[in-house]
Amino acid sequence: MLRTCGRRLAVLVLLWHCMPPLPSPAAETCSAIRTSYNPTAALRSDAFTLAPDDPRWSAFLAWAKAKKLYTFQIIGLSQKKDAPPSILFRWAKDTLWQKDVVLPFGQALGHMIAERRWRDADFPEFFSSRGGIFGVDLAERLSGMDTQTLDPWQDFFQSVTAPKSPARPRLNARLLSVAPDGQSASIALGQDRITIYLADRLRSDLALFLTDCAIAEFFQEYDKSKEATPGERPETTAEGSAPGKAIYTSQCSGCHGEAGDGQGMLTLSWLPRPRNFVRGSFRYRSTPTGSPPTNTDLFRTVSKGLAGSGMPAFEAILSERERRDVVAYIKQFSQRFASGSEPPSTSVSAPPQVTKKHIARGASLYVDSGCPSCHGAEGRGDGRSGQDLKTAEGDPIIPRDLTHKWSFHGGHTPSDIYRRIANGMDGSSMAAYEEVLEPNDLWDLVFYVLSLSPEQRPQAEAGHRAENK
Ligand code: HEC
Ligand code: HEC
Repeated sequence: MLRTCGRRLAVLVLLWHCMPPLPSPAAETCSAIRTSYNPTAALRSDAFTLAPDDPRWSAFLAWAKAKKLYTFQIIGLSQKKDAPPSILFRWAKDTLWQKDVVLPFGQALGHMIAERRWRDADFPEFFSSRGGIFGVDLAERLSGMDTQTLDPWQDFFQSVTAPKSPARPRLNARLLSVAPDGQSASIALGQDRITIYLADRLRSDLALFLTDCAIAEFFQEYDKSKEATPGERPETTAEGSAPGKAIYTSQCSGCHGEAGDGQGMLTLSWLPRPRNFVRGSFRYRSTPTGSPPTNTDLFRTVSKGLAGSGMPAFEAILSERERRDVVAYIKQFSQRFASGSEPPSTSVSAPPQVTKKHIARGASLYVDSGCPSCHGAEGRGDGRSGQDLKTAEGDPIIPRDLTHKWSFHGGHTPSDIYRRIANGMDGSSMAAYEEVLEPNDLWDLVFYVLSLSPEQRPQAEAGHRAENK
């Protein structure tokens, strides 16, 4: 019961306004209530078991909408001692069901970044005084301000949730309408975005703050109005014990899917989509094309994120140990890691001194190697063959705009770019050039690619949302 102020003081919570505790609905007093859903046992006060395949489901969503149950707002960052930092959401504000729920960072980022596609440009009042606006996603921008700590996040939440902050209305969400069969619903995010959630997603949200007992009133009303059928009692699933599993479930599964198939419950609009780990094709590798990545490659992706892609940097959120555990866990999804032995990274020679001559050679290698067909003559990602490329999974994919190195997902140091060109990006159309180009040619290409971007990262205008897709 996080709702009392005393308990809250034990917890370092930013901008959490103390409110008198509300009586909890039917506070654990359902032991005597019997409905068609629970003909023989008490309603559970420790779990929410109503599921989308239950005949009551659509009636339940209609009831939840009428009660203004499905609303939430983002309250701020929570940093309890000995627990990973997380983000606080207030559900069902000003109703009997109001509850503050702590969401693990990865999941909360999913809500904020994946579904709302928040960018720094959505919060000009915050970012314009902190280095400017670049049109990049919020998580990327904040983690870029300080990769090691969550200080920028604290600062951000403190500022945007302040009573007079113009950003406050943007932090809310509510249920707008439910499809007649209850299998989907539209949700308003802030004032200007609407998204569709499927029933499983709605259920998992509701299970964050409801129990069967808390909705006893619904079960009773349902029985009065309908000819009720005895309900099924789905079992609650037990958590596995692998150390990386709990982290995966809380931080990654919303995007990458419980089964690692890239089909997380969050409504996503990125391309590329979150990686399908079962398929086991990885792009940001130091290994030859066709090989799985090394542990270090995966660890880097999880720690630093993939810029411009929605894949967050977990360095400031998970300890090194936790990042290693979750890397070990995702490898279990694919047979490709089954041998247990790691493929060796290909060696990268020391880069030569960059001269105008090298860059000029790089420019002609760029043409001779066929890069313009996808990336365009000027590197803007608009080459003719690049128009309808598909990933191995059949999703459309766009060649990178090489004139904006900050949008390179795998980083833009010379050796990052060298690896991408030499080793290719498996699963996308970007082939490996290691077999056809000598190391010196590869370096010349790298420096040519780097010469296409301006020295300074250009700023975006406030309100401009579509920089690096
Ligand atoms: C908010 C959504 C989101 C969350 C949360 C998220 N990812 Fe990702 N992840 C993505 C997207 C999108 C991509 C694909 C980006 C691309 O290909 O450019 C990706 C790609 C990856 C890749 C592929 C790298 C490669 O070489 O191809 C790995 C590994 C990965 N994520 C691991 C994780 C792990 C582990 C977690 C949890 C600790 C996690 N992700 C959480 C969205 C997410
Ligand atoms: C058949 C089309 C195609 C060709 C030819 C091609 N690329 Fe790409 N390239 C892509 C696509 C698609 C992506 C984005 C992949 C993704 O997002 O997963 C990409 C991404 C990149 C990236 C960004 C890496 C990152 O970290 O984000 C660089 C740099 C790059 N290509 C350079 C080159 C160079 C140099 C050549 C020529 C030697 C070349 N590409 C040839 C399709 C192509």
